[in-house]
Order: sequence, then C-alpha cells, then structure tokens
Amino acid sequence: MCGIVGYIGYEQAGPFLLDGLEKLEYRGYDSAGVCLNDGNALVVKKSKGKLKVLKDLTEDGRTLKGTVGIGHTRWATHGEPSDVNAHPHLSESGRFAVVHNGIIENYQQLKDYLTSKGIEFRSMTDTEVIAQLIEYYYKGDLIDTVIKVLEKLDGSYALGVISQENPDEIVAVRKESPLIIGLGEKENFIASDVTAILSKTRKIYRLENNEIAILNRDSVKIINTDKDEVKKEIETVNWDINAAEKGGYEHFMFKEIMEQPKAVSDTISPRIKNGRVVLDEIKLTKEQLQNFTKINILACGSAYHVGVVAKYIFEKMLRIPVEVDLASEFRYRDPIINDKVLTVVISQSGETADTKEAMKEAQRRGSHVISIVNVVGSAIAVESNDVIYTWAGPEIAVATTKAYSTQLAVIYLMALYFGDMLGTIVEDEYKALVAELEHLPERIEEILGHKEKVQYLASKYFNTKDVFFIGRNIDYALSLEGSLKLKEISYIHSEAYAAGELKHGTISLIEQGTPVIALATHEELIGKIISNIEEVKTRGAQVMCIACDNHPEIEKIGQTVFIPKSCDMLLPSLAVIPLQLFAYYVASLKGCDIDKPRNLAKSVTVE
Ligand code: G6P
Repeated sequence: MCGIVGYIGYEQAGPFLLDGLEKLEYRGYDSAGVCLNDGNALVVKKSKGKLKVLKDLTEDGRTLKGTVGIGHTRWATHGEPSDVNAHPHLSESGRFAVVHNGIIENYQQLKDYLTSKGIEFRSMTDTEVIAQLIEYYYKGDLIDTVIKVLEKLDGSYALGVISQENPDEIVAVRKESPLIIGLGEKENFIASDVTAILSKTRKIYRLENNEIAILNRDSVKIINTDKDEVKKEIETVNWDINAAEKGGYEHFMFKEIMEQPKAVSDTISPRIKNGRVVLDEIKLTKEQLQNFTKINILACGSAYHVGVVAKYIFEKMLRIPVEVDLASEFRYRDPIINDKVLTVVISQSGETADTKEAMKEAQRRGSHVISIVNVVGSAIAVESNDVIYTWAGPEIAVATTKAYSTQLAVIYLMALYFGDMLGTIVEDEYKALVAELEHLPERIEEILGHKEKVQYLASKYFNTKDVFFIGRNIDYALSLEGSLKLKEISYIHSEAYAAGELKHGTISLIEQGTPVIALATHEELIGKIISNIEEVKTRGAQVMCIACDNHPEIEKIGQTVFIPKSCDMLLPSLAVIPLQLFAYYVASLKGCDIDKPRNLAKSVTVE
C-alpha cells in the first residue's frame, strides 16, 4: 500500500526511480509520480492509473533530468485516485516536494490552519499539508524544519523530502510505516522495501520510528529528533534478486504457487534435527508454557485463515483453548488478555497496521507474543517477543500463496514443538507426524504435477457469478481461504460456509447449476460432508470436490481433484494447492489482472 523510492547519486535518477516503482507495484496503487531536481527547479511528473502511463510519459524515466529524485505509487485514502492527488506533492512555491506512506490523522486541522494563513492547496490529500508545513516553517535549515513539522503531525508516516534549497540531499523519516535506506557506491536510496533497490545494493539500514535519515551522494547520516546521531548496524539482505522477478512465468502468482515445495521445505527442514522439531527462536520455557491458559491468534486476510486452521490444530494437539481474532476487531473489543495468554501474531509483511496495533494491545495487557513473519526485520518481527520466520522469500502477487503455505508449516512445527514440551502428543504419533511433515514438500510437488485437471475444471466454471465453498472442521477453515483466493483475483462472488450450517439459510441460494466446491479431506467427517454434498446436489448444485485419494468413491458424486492421503493435521497444505490453482486459472481465463487485482494492496499499512 503506497510505495516510496528515492535516489541520490551521480547517475540520472529517472530510470532507477521508474524501475524501483515498478518493483513496488505489487504493494497496490492507483496512481504514480516522481519529482526530480533538474538543477533549476523541482520537476514533477505524475499520473492516475498504471505506472505504464508514467513510463510512457517519461520514456521509462530517460527524459527526466536530474540526479536526485523521489517517486511514489499511491493507494488512495484521502481524495480519489487522480493526477492532482498523486504524489509527490509540492509546497505552494514549488520549493519542497514530499512523498508519503501512511495517514496524517490531524491533516484537516493543519490544513484549516494553513488555509487561514492564505496558503492554497491543490489536492485533497493529507500529504500535501506536510509539504506546505515545511515551506511555512522553513527558515533556512531543512532538518530543523522537518523536525518541527513532525511535532505537528499525528498519525503514521514514511516520508521522503527533497528541496530546491538543498539540492544535494534527500531527507527521510518514518513513524509506523516502513522505510529502508539503501547504501550504494557513490549513490544512496530510500525505499518502502528492499525489492525496489535489490538491483543496486544489498546493504541497508532499517529506519526505526522517529529516526531521520539525511542522504547525500557519498554518505548517509541517521539522527533522532533531538539531532543526536544514531549509530546503526548495516544489514545485508540475502534475498535472491531473481526471486523478485517473474523468471519466465506469465504471473508472479503462478510462479509463487510453483515455488511452494521449496518455500515449505526451506521453512521446515532447518527446524527438524534428528527427527525432532527444534525451534531455537522461541525462548519460552516448559514452565512458562504450562502457565498459559489460552492461546490468542491475531492476523488479517489470509494470515487470519491460517489462524483459523491453527485453532483446530492447537486445540487438538495442545489441549489449550484457542481464540482467533481479526486484528482489526480485536483492538476495539476490550479483549480479556493477560500474562496467562500466549498471543500468536501471523503476518507475511510484518507491517500490516491492524495486526501490528493488535499485537501492541496484547503486549500492553501482559501477553507474550510469538510472531510468524516473512519479512526479516519488519516491525512485527522486531517488536514481538519471539519471532519465527517463514522462509518464503519475497512474495510479489497480492494474493498470497507461498506465504500462506509457509505460515501453515510453522503452525505444524509449533504444534509439534509445544506438544512435545507439554507432553500432549504421544511419542508414536509425534514421530509419525514429523516423518510426514518432512515429506510435505514432495506431496505438494505431486499435486502441482496434476495441475491440468484443475485447469480443466476452471474452464467449466469461469463464467459463473457465484461460487460456494463448503467444508467441515479444518476443511471449513480452508474453504475460507479458497473462497477469498477466488474472489480477490477473479472478482467472482464467493462465500465459504461450514457445511453443517448450510441448512440454516444458505441452501436457499442453491439452484440449478450453482457451483459448490466441497472440501472433503477430513477423515472423521467424511460421511457427514458427503451427506451435505448430496443435499446441495439434490437442489441442482454443480459440485466439485477436493478429497483424499483413499476415497475414490467421492468421484461418483462430483468431479473431484484428489490429493494424496496424509495425516489430518497436514492436509490443509495439500488441499489448498488445487484451491489456489483454481482461483488462478479462473482469473486467467477471465483475463483479470492477476498479480494486482483492483482496489487491493499487498501490504496494508493503514488501518
Ligand atoms: C493483504 C494481502 C493478503 C494478506 C493480508 C495480511 O490483504 O493481500 O494476502 O493475507 O493483507 O497481510 P500480512 O502481510 O499481515 O500477512
């Protein structure tokens, strides 16, 4: 959600800025722009819509003059997506330019104040107040001015500022929104995340709240708001640069679906030693663990769906009650959380605003937080008490696939590790589960090898308007993810229902030809889900099933995608593969913008 990039060096900034913005496209945006100091003035080019418009306008940045510049992809919050609301925003005289990610909560008061002083605003954005405030307070020292302006701002921000007055400098600052500084040879960078600068450097500083970076061509200085220098460690990013490229695939989403065996293996293998799960990153002792009376899971979107799966698994394997909350709801319901509650926070980006704030609320109430995060060094990873990283590598498609799968893998590892510590899993079962877990990547690979069957089924369904997903127990948790995947990238209306709940209302929506996707992998409830499938079929539903290969009879009641039989706990990792592929193929047949679905953002950094 909103992407920031900036360059200062000895080369033309334009091509890098446009390339960096392209790398940030995945975060979600509806307009884009750049501002460069061309030696005489700050020159802004910006446009509504896809980055392609800006690229065409500037010949991929080559027509832009200047070796210092900032760029931005905007996901509209205040003011519709339009050329004028796109960033960068200039101050009234055009001497200062600002790009911003986040929300300035008191922007209206600040705008009213500045308007009363005769300053004219051009846009509807909250960001423009920052540019105008800088000019209003500027008395010759940009850093002093930025610090003064920060005191006036309520809300969250990552900012990049350039000025005509200081043509050899970029000033960057963050509070609650991510921003990194890239360190090059005779060039330095700012960016919302590392994917934008990986082609240039792997050396970065991660800005923390209220740190201000002053970038020149040959140096970077970090200070706090008292102007004291902050000494920071340089971090070296080890992400493979090719991981953020399509590598011959038509879409990132498909590439990421296909990368799942490796991502799951990378997440699991280093944590199984001599047949035992070892989570060195968790500092909790057995005594502390025994003290917890509840597990509280917080997340948004697909990560929340992982949480719903985890509830079934943790309760069964650890015998501790589990509550799963949407992070955006948790904060405002006065939750009953204390030091007897273990909180598990799940987030791919580690920056989702609601998840981060919910985590802090849990911590304020005394809860120990373990986070499951993909982006190393992200806010949630750093601020949680313990972090278990998923080793999925960069995930670019907005609709998550490999991050979801690696999050599930961590849930299994946690269930086994804690179950072993608490003695709630018998040794034989433990050994069998670990052995199966080690084979999980191969099983995922096997399902991916039969993707054409799912492609064929997608061709039968892609014209439909509504789809219902049903399942029981963990299959229900999984149907939530299958439904979300389909709707977010294909724009087909879909809903997930606990199969037993159908008769309480939803079945009235089933008519001749209504597609129903039934998840029937849970061994204990196979008879019950078959009855539910028969009920919808009797009313005209066209049924597609996902079932384990030890139940070939299911094919008689609906077209079926079979997955290899495995232990119940691990089946979500297998059953989710056809669901992801189904959504992908349907969206592809409909010609949708699969990697960047309309209105959605990968990294949701506003509440
Ligand atoms: C967005 C993404 C989803 C993701 C959710 C939570 O909606 O499109 O794929 O599940 O945010 O993001 P997080 O980074 O916290 O996992």
